[in-house]
Amino acid sequence: RQAAKQQQDSLVDTMERAAQAYCEQLKSTPHAIDYLKRRGVSGAVSSRYGLGYAPAGWNYLASVFPDYTSRLLEEGGLVIHGAEDDKRYDRFRDRIMFPIRDVKGQCIGFGGRVLGDEKPKYLNSPETPLFHKGRELYGLYEARTDLREAGYALVCEGYMDVVALAQLGFPNAVATLGTACTGDHIHKLFRFTEAVVFSFDGDAAGQRAARKALEAVLPLVNDTRSVKFLFLPPEHDPDSFIRTHGADAFTRMVHAAMPFNQFLLQVASEGCDLGTAPGRARLSNQAQPLWNLLPPSTLKRLVLDELAQHIALPAQELEGIWQRTNAPAS
Ligand code: CTP
Ligand code: MN
Ligand code: MN
Ligand code: MN
Ligand code: MN
Repeated sequence: RQAAKQQQDSLVDTMERAAQAYCEQLKSTPHAIDYLKRRGVSGAVSSRYGLGYAPAGWNYLASVFPDYTSRLLEEGGLVIHGAEDDKRYDRFRDRIMFPIRDVKGQCIGFGGRVLGDEKPKYLNSPETPLFHKGRELYGLYEARTDLREAGYALVCEGYMDVVALAQLGFPNAVATLGTACTGDHIHKLFRFTEAVVFSFDGDAAGQRAARKALEAVLPLVNDTRSVKFLFLPPEHDPDSFIRTHGADAFTRMVHAAMPFNQFLLQVASEGCDLGTAPGRARLSNQAQPLWNLLPPSTLKRLVLDELAQHIALPAQELEGIWQRTNAPAS
């Protein structure tokens, strides 16, 4: 155990040293600075998030770490070691670097963005002993005190969304790193705030992300928490929206965000003509597995009342029907 702990500590040190080096590289790389400037990123917000630059070339990290063959570099996902040819090379090359920190502030991974249109646009650290993509929220450490101050968290998809929101007056933003929002993510977030506003991209992928988030958050809803969904126009993500339309427009979007129960109703009503009995029966079927995810609370009763109104049945009767049938989760 002691040995495992020491191993973890040296892995964290390795990641921190890399983050530091990338940060210094950014300062001396005009085209990387230009890229961030073009995207409107200020020096202040860049240092808040410790943004950096991984130089082009295959072995930049060899100049940072005297022992480039160290297992730690491979374990941290910084260096790729070809098993067949025994060659080593840097994973991140010619990319803007976003250090990903755990809640203690330790660098556990990176996201790296190309400066042009090459693919893949983003490269992330692989799963390592420190980094589990499905559990970490980008920007949570940086936002920890702002979450308390603002009283709510904005949950978006991307690194640049978090950075742009912070710069334009919303330092209480975090991102799921492009993976589906999980119960783990939300559970972690509720340690810092009682209110979340999901704010995904306006495109089809963002809409799917919102549905996933709804299913992930329902088991954690209670009478003291607030859960809302902010829907952007299809052509925007939070970064492009706030840079195009400004902070006041985004504030209005936050105020107009949809309470989770309204979104639940909307999702459950899909394809249902509520003017007809079959349509309302279909709503009942589609709402049941979602409603079942809610833990017992007053709010759960109220959501039932609301659904029952749209289905046009007394709530008690609806609940009775749901208890007798067990519609499979979709
Ligand atoms: N993502 C990823 N790998 C990709 C594409 C996306 O890991 N090849 C993750 C990144 O965390 C990214 C997020 O998914 O920030 C959202 O993806 P997308 O909306 O495509 O990117 P943006 O964040 O909007 O990127 P940008 O504005 O820099 O183009
Ligand atoms: Mn997207
Ligand atoms: Mn986006
Ligand atoms: Mn974007
Ligand atoms: Mn617009």
